[in-house]
Amino acid sequence: MAALINPSILSADFANLERDLQAIATADFAHVDVMDNHFVPNLTLGLPVLERLAKISPVPLDAHLMIEDPDRWAPAYAEAGAASVTFHAEAARAPVRLARELRRLGARAGVALRPATPVEPFLDLLAEVDMILVMTVEPGFGGQSFIEGTLPKIRRARQAVNGSGLDVRIQVDGGISRETIERAAEAGANVFVAGSAVYGAENIPGEIAALRELADAHAH
Ligand code: DX5
Ligand code: ZN
Repeated sequence: MAALINPSILSADFANLERDLQAIATADFAHVDVMDNHFVPNLTLGLPVLERLAKISPVPLDAHLMIEDPDRWAPAYAEAGAASVTFHAEAARAPVRLARELRRLGARAGVALRPATPVEPFLDLLAEVDMILVMTVEPGFGGQSFIEGTLPKIRRARQAVNGSGLDVRIQVDGGISRETIERAAEAGANVFVAGSAVYGAENIPGEIAALRELADAHAH
């Protein structure tokens, strides 16, 4: 599968989100980081904002919910128009029930793992999700550096997905740039979130194209 590049609007100008979504029209999805100041020590945006963004975005929304109690709150993000909804494994009480509910509502379902959360407990449940998000930084903030120690987990997830024959994407998020994307792709990731690398670039479409090219060159 061709690599997907999902810029994170966490690094966009929150007073100019429409303009900054237009700036990533050549990307695959816009990654929207929802933080509740409980699951992570930061607060961003919630449902009413995402609902408006879904209406005006040139690309579909990839919602990353860094929130407590996703069992209760995540389905509303699917109803609000997110094409993909990813909840954290550490916060979900009934991840299979939640993933099924998200799919029933027409969204792709993703499960996210903090750097220290093992992927193994989820490998028997691959049929229930469309994506595994391997966090490559501790969630909460943009601009952190890539944790190299997450690469073996990406490799193990890739082996399991390939062995299952299922179409489950592997997303990486945190510290992805021209310096790190090749290693993540080589390990088996095929969806790449990049916040500061894309929005910090002089030429945003050029940066998206450069990241895509590097990822595709190292894809499995
Ligand atoms: C961090 C967020 C990321 C963040 C990535 O908790 O989930 O999506 O925006 O930012 P960079 O690419 O700057 O590490
Ligand atoms: Zn994210």
